[in-house]
Amino acid sequence: MAAKLLIVHHSQSGTTSRMAEHVVRGASDPDVDIELRVRDALEADAGDLLWCDGFILGTPENFGYMSGGLKLFLERVYYPCLDKVDAKPWAMFVRAGNDGTGAIASVRRILTGLKVREVQEPVLIAGEFDESRLDDCVELGMTMAAGLEAGIF
Ligand SMILES: Cc1cc2nc3c(=O)[nH]c(=O)nc-3n(C[C@H](O)[C@H](O)[C@H](O)COP(=O)(O)O)c2cc1C
Repeated sequence: MAAKLLIVHHSQSGTTSRMAEHVVRGASDPDVDIELRVRDALEADAGDLLWCDGFILGTPENFGYMSGGLKLFLERVYYPCLDKVDAKPWAMFVRAGNDGTGAIASVRRILTGLKVREVQEPVLIAGEFDESRLDDCVELGMTMAAGLEAGIF
């Protein structure tokens, strides 16, 4: 049975969505056989997180924190998933106007409580949107998918 990868992201003005498209492109590499589910954070639910073998979260930094949309997702799934997702591998990508560290720290803090394992460094695009960094998003998705397929995470 193919490994299952979930990508959940939130974007208000579209730049995090651009990153998400490239993460999805990497995870959809034809040489890698996984099942992929992509959800907007406002629609994703605990069933998605329970379904997957690994996941990637994407958020902008808003007010020094993850976006409200991603926070709402984590609030909705936290207790239904507590003790049921232990050790699942995960990674994140972040878009920020000038910083990004607050968003990264806020996601890590909550996921520490879920006892999941961060297996890749976050991809952060801060400041002016550097198109060349979208390659890092492709690589993030591809590495996660290949790692799940190979069972190394
Ligand atoms: C309400 C609001 C708060 C923001 N706060 C921060 C912040 O604390 N740090 C930062 O680096 N950028 C901040 N930004 C800039 C966003 O991170 C940036 O515009 C980002 O591209 C938005 O992502 P999106 O296009 O996916 O919505 C803020 C933007 C908005 C609209």
